[in-house]
Amino acid sequence: MKAEFNFDVLVIGSGGAGLTLALKLAQQQTRIAVLSKFALTSGSTYYAQGGISAVFDAEDSVESHTADTLDSGAGLCNEEIVKLTVNHGKKSIDWLREQGVLFTEEQSVSGEKKLHLNREGGHSHRRVVHMDDATGKAISLSLIERAQENRHIKLFENYNIIDLITQKNRCIGAYVFNSSQQKIETFTAKIIVLATGGASKAYLYSTNPQSSTGDGMAVAWRAGCRVSNLEFMQFHPTCLYHPAGHSFLISEAIRGEGGRLILPDGSPFMHHFDDRGELAPRDIVARAIDHEIKKRGIDYVYLDISHKPASFIREHFPNIYQRCLEFDFDITQQPIPVVPAAHYTCGGILTDSFARTDIENLYAVGEVACTGLHGANRMASNSLLECLVFAERASEDIQRKLPQLSMPKNLPLWDESQVSNSDEEVVVSHNWNELRHFMWDYVGIVRTDKRLNRAMNRVALLKKEIAEYYQNFRVTSDLLELRNLVVVAELIIRCAQERKESRGLHYTLDYPEIDNSQPAKNTILTPTNFN
Ligand code: FAD
Ligand code: SIN
Repeated sequence: MKAEFNFDVLVIGSGGAGLTLALKLAQQQTRIAVLSKFALTSGSTYYAQGGISAVFDAEDSVESHTADTLDSGAGLCNEEIVKLTVNHGKKSIDWLREQGVLFTEEQSVSGEKKLHLNREGGHSHRRVVHMDDATGKAISLSLIERAQENRHIKLFENYNIIDLITQKNRCIGAYVFNSSQQKIETFTAKIIVLATGGASKAYLYSTNPQSSTGDGMAVAWRAGCRVSNLEFMQFHPTCLYHPAGHSFLISEAIRGEGGRLILPDGSPFMHHFDDRGELAPRDIVARAIDHEIKKRGIDYVYLDISHKPASFIREHFPNIYQRCLEFDFDITQQPIPVVPAAHYTCGGILTDSFARTDIENLYAVGEVACTGLHGANRMASNSLLECLVFAERASEDIQRKLPQLSMPKNLPLWDESQVSNSDEEVVVSHNWNELRHFMWDYVGIVRTDKRLNRAMNRVALLKKEIAEYYQNFRVTSDLLELRNLVVVAELIIRCAQERKESRGLHYTLDYPEIDNSQPAKNTILTPTNFN
């Protein structure tokens, strides 16, 4: 049967990774479709604040950037991948500037303009290229504009992937839910790329937008790909604490400019936990805050930058200043109440150095993938860099491969003759809430075997209920996300259960020390021996 759409390359996701890949491929006359679950700006990329790490400072070096990344990764980074990524830093920033991204500049002592560099946790130098405190917005808008004007790229908004279509371990297309028209469409492609972002929405409190429900990881898993290191969920230390603004991030760059973490009585505490104080890697800072909150029975700690001149704060952090003001906090005058929140998925679909997955003609780029760059804890601002570098690597490999591929034929069309409309949407929203609560309570910053087992028992019940619901009723966007979230939650818990030590972002009271008695190992789950 004929599929509704066919393209050379189908890219699922319109964040930094997906759009970079599409634009790189479009130079070669390739016909590319880019799908986005919601609006084109719906991914995390649009919300990125601090910036992109790359070596520009004369005092800095790629060796130093490599060493800091390895140190943050707590012994689990793939050194070759780290070197490859870090070496592409400058080139990636130059490419973004060619696409029209205007990064913040300053005047050097000799009067020339140069990039202004932020400093963030784990970095031993100023190394973060940025556009004020809204770097992601500048990147997203430029890339979207370039893609919109490119005749080789077709953009599809409100298209939600349901599942990949494979034939003998080869990916040939995807079933997609067109949520504007409430219908399912079939896409055929020679190459399919997952660029769907992370899974932080598996947690009750998250800095991420609605789109981060781990869909790419779940569809890849169902199709037969291995996943890796999902126990390393990164909690950003400083998310605004406010009933109406709990998902607003307060950038690490504030600490880079001297922001102090303080207790309600005004005393600083980070020096008790790490010599680097507020600029220790994220896992350490988030755990320290969690410790103080639990020990003192308080709801939040404070981040204070008010000792800096008001004009400096307004100039460097206009977006954060304005947003906090909307919640009645003037950060030039008072400290900001902050709590940690789920922020970044270090693990994901296992990929090689060209972003290839276990399935032929299926690639994964960006936060959805596990390349080996981040190890047990991603260093700040290395994520956008990874999106750019691996999109380029994937595009090189795809360009080599495409001439040998023909368009797959005879894809089975979606069959929904056996389903009806649901009369109990409440089941979906109830299960959503339940899942995110128990992931926060039992699989959060501090874990134990008992908590992980509890979470796994609940996953088993939810999985059954959601599977029944999925079989009997027509799909909706919420149902698709829930179906994926429960898979990803199970994978996160399973990875956490396999790691019998505390390392990087995975901290468990049952094994509170790092196990240095043997070489550090990645956690790898294989679909065939899992269920
Ligand atoms: P995303 O940008 O998340 O894009 C995912 C895309 O996939 C979206 O278009 C989405 O709609 C689409 N999608 C998802 N599911 C489906 C589906 N089922 N069907 C179709 N489409 C789908 N990193 C840094 O390096 N520096 C920073 O300063 C920084 N700041 C951050 C601040 C915040 C508030 C957040 C949340 C993250 C920040 N990060 C930062 C992390 C970084 O932004 C992300 O890791 C990165 O942008 C991920 O890019 P991506 O292209 O992989 O995914
Ligand atoms: C931030 O600005 O603090 C976020 C940076 C990141 O997640 O890399």
